[in-house]
Amino acid sequence: MKAAVYRKYGAPEVVGVEDIPTPQPKAGEVLVRVRAATVTAADWRVRSLLMPRGFGAFGRLAFGLFGPRKKVLGMALAGEVEACGAGVTGFAMGDRVLAETGAKMGAHAEFCVVRASGTIAKMPDGLSFEDAAALVFGGTTALYFLRDIGKVQAGERVLVNGASGETGVAFVQLARHFGADVVGVCSAGNAELVQGLGAAHVVDYAREDFAASAEAYDIIVDTVGNAGWARSKDALKDQGRLLQVLAGLPDMMIAPFVSRRAGRKALAGAAKPTAADLVFLADLAVSGAFKPVISQRFELKDIVEAHRLVDSGHKVGSVVVRL
Ligand SMILES: NC(=O)c1ccc[n+]([C@@H]2O[C@H](COP(=O)([O-])OP(=O)(O)OC[C@H]3O[C@@H](n4cnc5c(N)ncnc54)[C@H](OP(=O)(O)O)[C@@H]3O)[C@@H](O)[C@H]2O)c1
Repeated sequence: MKAAVYRKYGAPEVVGVEDIPTPQPKAGEVLVRVRAATVTAADWRVRSLLMPRGFGAFGRLAFGLFGPRKKVLGMALAGEVEACGAGVTGFAMGDRVLAETGAKMGAHAEFCVVRASGTIAKMPDGLSFEDAAALVFGGTTALYFLRDIGKVQAGERVLVNGASGETGVAFVQLARHFGADVVGVCSAGNAELVQGLGAAHVVDYAREDFAASAEAYDIIVDTVGNAGWARSKDALKDQGRLLQVLAGLPDMMIAPFVSRRAGRKALAGAAKPTAADLVFLADLAVSGAFKPVISQRFELKDIVEAHRLVDSGHKVGSVVVRL
């Protein structure tokens, strides 16, 4: 099969398309013929080993000390079941599915093996492969932070820093879906998009500091990493929560203690996507209440271009690779 392979950490150019053996599903696994996958900030981090502050050593240990352990990147995909390993009962050949492979990665290839009991679900009718792939990474991240640990409530005021990125567009829409009033922080050029997704107000980060307004928000979501506890604390209401989607290790260690003393919470961690999350997001997308945002599409042969765009840190929504 054709796959985007990388054998050393580095710039987008370390990735190249190669012919490699098609994986075979073992017991409990499903082989998916990938139709669409996304290149995400996670692919950029694992490929470059540019980890948030303090996580560099963890990155190398987790992904391969002397070079990448998994040679094919990509963790969000949609496609069709090609074959099932022994004991798989929930899926059959030809099923249209969307999936998240986590640290196993492997989605930037014509075929990818996914554990049937893992983060994989059947796609509802009315959803395209590209849209399905595009809702996985941002959607599952936003669900975990907003619903599971942030416990967002209807009527709360939520600020999303980095509102036009892949996670940001999902945070804006899901916060609205859960009944919150949303303020998005993004560059001026993306303001219209973010308002169209449900933000009542947009702050242009080049002209205004959202943190200058006192006790304004119940939840601040930081997807950029420049709105840690020190900057955000005064903009949080009493009992407010800072959701640190991106934070360095020092901030993640200290913020929970200092925030609790201040009657607020700083919450960080890694999203834990589930199959139920995928079903929830896909159904929401079909109902029209959640719009997968795709800014650019690439063929597998142009995967390096896709990585370059993701590396810029200014992509809008998702970057999709078609297979
Ligand atoms: N903890 C977890 O489980 C988890 C899960 C997923 C992602 N993440 C992390 O979250 C981060 C964001 O991921 P992503 O997929 O959303 O990235 P992304 O798609 O690249 O989006 C980044 C966004 O940041 C915005 N931005 C850049 N500079 C900014 C500034 N100074 N102020 C406000 N916004 C700014 C950009 O908007 P403009 O183009 O308008 O400048 C862009 O839309 C990544 O570092 C990723 O590793 C963590």
